[in-house]
Amino acid sequence: MKRKVTKAVFPVAGLGTRFLPATKSVPKEIMTLVDRPLIQYAIDEARAAGIKEFIFVTSRGKSALEDYFDRAPELEAALETKGKQDLLEALEQTYMESGAIAYIRQHRPLGLGHAVWCARRLIGDEPFAVMLPDDVIAGEKSCLQQMVEAHEETGGCMVAAMEVPPSRTSSYGVLDVKEGNGRLMRLRGMVEKPAAGTAPSNLAVIGRYILTPQVMENLNRMKKGAGGEIQLTDAIADELVAGRDVFGYQFEGDRFDCGSKSGFLQATVAFGLSRPDLRDELARYLDNLMAHRNAAQ
Ligand code: UTP
Repeated sequence: MKRKVTKAVFPVAGLGTRFLPATKSVPKEIMTLVDRPLIQYAIDEARAAGIKEFIFVTSRGKSALEDYFDRAPELEAALETKGKQDLLEALEQTYMESGAIAYIRQHRPLGLGHAVWCARRLIGDEPFAVMLPDDVIAGEKSCLQQMVEAHEETGGCMVAAMEVPPSRTSSYGVLDVKEGNGRLMRLRGMVEKPAAGTAPSNLAVIGRYILTPQVMENLNRMKKGAGGEIQLTDAIADELVAGRDVFGYQFEGDRFDCGSKSGFLQATVAFGLSRPDLRDELARYLDNLMAHRNAAQ
């Protein structure tokens, strides 16, 4: 019987150097798109997909992230006194059922694969999701939910995939597709950051995964053998070498790379324009800005 995916790992122990100096004291995942931190978008996506246990792999300096999910009795009391029901409701989304959230430390930033491996004891013998909060995905149905539904049919490992321009493939893990069936593809291999001109396709791995506990075993071996960064892509590709199934899933939705400044700015504008309370004023501002810019050119 296939087991339901109810656990998700959120690796948030990276240094976030692309956002320095901001990330000197603010975790990247707490940076805000409109009025919600990146991590809230990931949590909402996970909840919509049926995730019940949330495992954060953190590091030094991430206490703001832990505080974010705590109750805030003084704030709640103040809002209640003022009758601010809408703001009290906004806080609701940040609360977690007791015992549903766990924090594990990655003591050194040895790479994404190593961060996921740090959660091995909490995962045990179950399939699990991995979500990178830097990748914010907007769509009618949550990306992870689309994957969980596909995974109920396929089992095995699954990675989210997206077409990127050939000039960008060297920045991503890239899929080598064996056969495709609409959004779902069976893979032959995966290559991490292929050198220019050598990518097997223009389908890139995006930060959503459903993995079997076997991948933790693969990471275990890598930990013993390899130095430097431990790549999650390599541990998943090992499943293919062992003859087990790995699928790519081309999700429906718009993905923003909020780990980069340009992606973060684009997401801010897109989410601002999607909000009924902000849309008109922001659109007017952008129209004016572009008109001035075009006139000046
Ligand atoms: P990135 O490659 O974006 O690295 O990690 P980063 O440190 O967050 O940011 P930059 O590149 O220095 O600006 C992708 C994801 O993997 C996590 C990060 O927190 C992020 O969610 N990660 C990366 C870890 O948890 N541990 C690591 O050792 C490396």
